[in-house]
Amino acid sequence: MEKLLVHGGSRLKGTVTISGSKNSSLPIMAATLLTREKCVIRKVPDLSDTNYMVRILATLGADVERASGNVITSAENVSHQAPYDLVRKMRASVCVLGPLVGRLRQALVSLPGGCVIGDRPIDLHLRGLEALGARVEVKGGDVSVHAAEGLRGAEVNMRGKHGSTVLGTGNIMMAAVLAKGQTIIEGAAVEPEVSDLAAFLNAMGAKVQGAGTRTIVIEGVDELGGAEHVVIPDRIEAGTFLVAGALAGDDVTLENVCSSHMGELINFLRQSGHPVNELPGDRLHISSGQDVRGNDLVTGPYPEFATDMQAQVCALCATTPGISVVTETVFPQRFMHVPELNRMGANIRMEDSTAIIRGVERLSAAPVMASDLRASAALVVAGLAAEGTTEVNRLYHIDRGYENIDDKLHRIGARVERVSQ
Ligand code: EPU
Repeated sequence: MEKLLVHGGSRLKGTVTISGSKNSSLPIMAATLLTREKCVIRKVPDLSDTNYMVRILATLGADVERASGNVITSAENVSHQAPYDLVRKMRASVCVLGPLVGRLRQALVSLPGGCVIGDRPIDLHLRGLEALGARVEVKGGDVSVHAAEGLRGAEVNMRGKHGSTVLGTGNIMMAAVLAKGQTIIEGAAVEPEVSDLAAFLNAMGAKVQGAGTRTIVIEGVDELGGAEHVVIPDRIEAGTFLVAGALAGDDVTLENVCSSHMGELINFLRQSGHPVNELPGDRLHISSGQDVRGNDLVTGPYPEFATDMQAQVCALCATTPGISVVTETVFPQRFMHVPELNRMGANIRMEDSTAIIRGVERLSAAPVMASDLRASAALVVAGLAAEGTTEVNRLYHIDRGYENIDDKLHRIGARVERVSQ
C-alpha cells in the first residue's frame, strides 16, 4: 500500500493542466456498449476508476484499447451480465445497466455495495427502468432487468429526497435512446456531466434534447453508430487545485478548465477573500488572499455548491480566520475528513450534517487516514499548509479520481513524496 508524504510550508507557483472529467468519462465509456461500431473517447483520465470501467467493458465482451488519454472501444458482441467481482469495486459501474437493457433487452448487474460517503441506493435508477416497461428484480445481491419486448418511451421522474440523481439520469438516458417512442425525463440532474453524456449519445445518432435542464426529451432510434468525443475538463480536480492555490498559492494557473462549471466555488473563494481570475484560453488564476475571512456554504445539486468539493473547502476553512459553517445536503454523512482534520489541530464541531469550523492559525502535520476520494484530497490539501510532514495513508482512494496528483503538485512547487509502506 502506498502513502503520500506532504511536507508542509511550500508556496505554490506555476501551471497545472486539468485532466478530463472522471465523472463524465465513466458513463460515456458505458454508453459505448450501445453500438457495435467503433467509438473513440478522448481525454479520459488515467485513474483506477476508469481502469475498472475498461475492465468491465472488456468482461462484457467489448474490445477496448487505451493509449495516450484515448479509449477506443468496439462492442460487436456484448454479454448482459456484469459480475460482482468487478462491480463491487466501483459504484459507478451501475451505469452499464441502462446501455445493456437498451441494447440487449436484459441485464444482470450486481448491486453496487455500500459506500463510505453514506447510503447510496439505486431505487431511482430502477424505478426509471420500470417506467420504461422493464421488469426489475433484486435477488441474491443482483439486479436483474428484463424487457423482452424492448423498452417503451415514457415519462420518468429522477428526483429523490436529496435532489436529482446524476448517474440515474444518465442511466435512463442511455436506456431510452433505443426505446420505442418518446421518453420525457422530469426532474433530471443538470450536472455538466449529464450534458456531456447527452452530447456523446447525440454524436452516436441519438435524439436527446434538453440535457442541462430539468426536462430531457428523448426520441428513441433503432440503432446507434460509432462516434468520437472529447470529455469535458474535470471541475472537481480543478476545484481541488483552486483550493490548494487559495491555501498555499502565490501564483497558480490552471489550464483546461471550464470556469462556468465552477461558479459557486469561485464565488465562495472570492467572498472568502481569495482573488480568482479568469484568463483567456480556458484558464484560471489564483493566489492566497491577504485579507481572508470565514464563510458559509450549503452543498446541493448543480448549479449549487458541489458536494464533491465540500471536504477540500473544510480543509481551507480550517485555517481561515473566523467561523465557517459548512452544511452537506446531498450526502448528509459525508464528513469522514473532519476527525482527521481535527487530529491535525483543526477546530471543527459537527451538528448533524453541518460542520462548524473555527479557523485556527496553523494545522500541524499528523499521520492521517484517507477514507474516500474527496476526503483524501482534503487531507493532502490540508497538509500543504500544515507545519511538518503529513502522512496520508490509503492513497489508493486518491488514485481513483486524481490523475498524477503527486506529479501535478510537484510541478507547482509542493513537496510531496509517494512511498510504499
Ligand atoms: N439517490 C437516491 N436514489 C437513487 C440514486 C441516488 O436516493 O437511486 C440519492 C443519493 O443517496 C444522494 C443523492 O440522491 O443522496 C444524489 O446521488 P446521485 O445519484 O446524484 O449520485 P451518483 O450519481 O451516484 C455522482 C458522482 C458523485 C457525486 C454525486 C453527486 C459519478 C461517478 N459520481 O454520483 O461523485 O458526489 O453524483 O454530485 O458521477 C466523487 O466523484 O467523489 C463522487 C462521489
